[in-house]
Amino acid sequence: MTQPMEDTAGFALSPGALARIDALAARYPTKASALMPCLWVIMDELGWVPPSGIDLLVEKLSVTHARVNEVLTFYTMFRDAPQAKYTLQVCHNISCHIMGSKVLIAHMEQKLGVKLGGRTADGLFQIEGAECLGACGMGPCLQLGSHLYENVTPAKADALLDSLRKGIVPRADTDREGVD
Ligand code: FES
Repeated sequence: MTQPMEDTAGFALSPGALARIDALAARYPTKASALMPCLWVIMDELGWVPPSGIDLLVEKLSVTHARVNEVLTFYTMFRDAPQAKYTLQVCHNISCHIMGSKVLIAHMEQKLGVKLGGRTADGLFQIEGAECLGACGMGPCLQLGSHLYENVTPAKADALLDSLRKGIVPRADTDREGVD
């Protein structure tokens, strides 16, 4: 049976996550091909990829630390440092900009008391600007993990924040799950 894995900083992967990684490693002709979906498994569970997660993938996928770090740091959706509980990415690309993302971002900055890129003192929220999220006709768009919220007005953002404060992730307009 797969045992939970915990690193020196106290971050643990559940047996379920470890089983998903094993299943992904077995799915591809070469184990190394499972690197990105396996990074997502760790991201899903911990919100970032700690050193112990890198070590695990080196072992499970027979890749080098350099290879894991290369992929982890190249793609902005992967995180190599602890994040706020909820990282809210607001698209500030052209279509969303035209449809109000500048106003939305200013509203969220004011509401949360942090500038874009900042994290609230309680560690609950982080807001970031994002490039096109692929739903240009539905702007402004906001992404939380695999959840995409469309036509986000300041009022809709307030409702989202209130719900997240209660630990409830509201139903998204589009869910982008299915990495494995
Ligand atoms: S410009 Fe915002 S989703 Fe494309």
